[in-house]
Amino acid sequence: MVMVEKEQHLKMRMEHIRFGKEELERRRKSPVHIPAEHVAAQLKDHYHVYIVDPRLGFNQRTFRFWINYRALGEEMEYSGKQLGHRHTVEAVIYIHQGHGYSVIDGVKYLWEAGDLICVPVFAWHRHHNESQEDLIYFAATTGPFSMATGIALYEEENYPEYWVFAQQGEEAMKTLIPGGAEAPPGGKVDLDQSRWKPQGSRSNGQPTSAEIYFDQLNFAQEEEKRRRAGKVLVKSKDLKFQPTPMGRVAYGVDTKLGFHVKVLGTLFAEIPPGKRSGAHRHIYEETNYIIAGEGYSIIEDEKYQWKKGDTLVIPVFAWHQHFNTGKETARFLVHTNRPCMESTGYIHTQQGEPADYE
Ligand SMILES: [Fe+2]
Ligand SMILES: [Fe+2]
Repeated sequence: MVMVEKEQHLKMRMEHIRFGKEELERRRKSPVHIPAEHVAAQLKDHYHVYIVDPRLGFNQRTFRFWINYRALGEEMEYSGKQLGHRHTVEAVIYIHQGHGYSVIDGVKYLWEAGDLICVPVFAWHRHHNESQEDLIYFAATTGPFSMATGIALYEEENYPEYWVFAQQGEEAMKTLIPGGAEAPPGGKVDLDQSRWKPQGSRSNGQPTSAEIYFDQLNFAQEEEKRRRAGKVLVKSKDLKFQPTPMGRVAYGVDTKLGFHVKVLGTLFAEIPPGKRSGAHRHIYEETNYIIAGEGYSIIEDEKYQWKKGDTLVIPVFAWHQHFNTGKETARFLVHTNRPCMESTGYIHTQQGEPADYE
């Protein structure tokens, strides 16, 4: 144990006390508007550009957002032709332009512009560009969350020297459980659960301690099944825009729609010409990419002018409302960490003025 002076303990304690107030300041200072030109200028030198990432000064803690660009004939990911790669982060990809297919956990999925792909955690996947035009896609992943909690693993076909589990045989290659093929020291232990059945009457309707513990022992295997049973693809034509107090919205990747995500959620929002969305604020992170249209947003009393290709990063619990001043319907690609914040119980959403359209 590290021995520290009393003053150090007091200093650490004060950091906890100050954190909430200082976080408000960090939210206020975090960049909000990233113009399309800033991204385009960087795309001249790189095939992918990180748009939103805590390492770039954004006060966004759980997910990042970036653009990938491939010229004609280039493959989508430089991560090999057989396995591709896998990672212990959630990933949602939006195809902006072009078409092709992905092989995810051995299954082939065809996609085209407007579709979403939700890659199950730790499933091998590779993407292939079949477009006769430049391919553009956007990805949101929970890398920052996994890195902060120390569980981030990226096993890339092209970088086997950084593999942690994939080199440990056939089973380790197939499982969606990191370390799932590793036997405990001394080999696999098969436990007969009946040995831990409580004696006498304890039938008060609650699980026994042994049952709770066995649920823990079986969790990863059950989670692997849930990952494999979750939906992967959202076809653009299947999106259903419906009225909400915030305006016309179509949820794409969501726990409530059969996707096995725990952190990330993705939706599309539309604002007709001359109309305004609802106003609200919420305790979760939100990144908006403007797919089409032009207008402005009021975010915590500041006005931000936006157009197609721009990105808006809404600080946690900042009021926001969007106004379409252009001639076409504005369309937003919206990523949030709502599922994560629901499971930790911190969600709090307040609705202000509702949208002026259905
Ligand atoms: Fe990936
Ligand atoms: Fe929002």
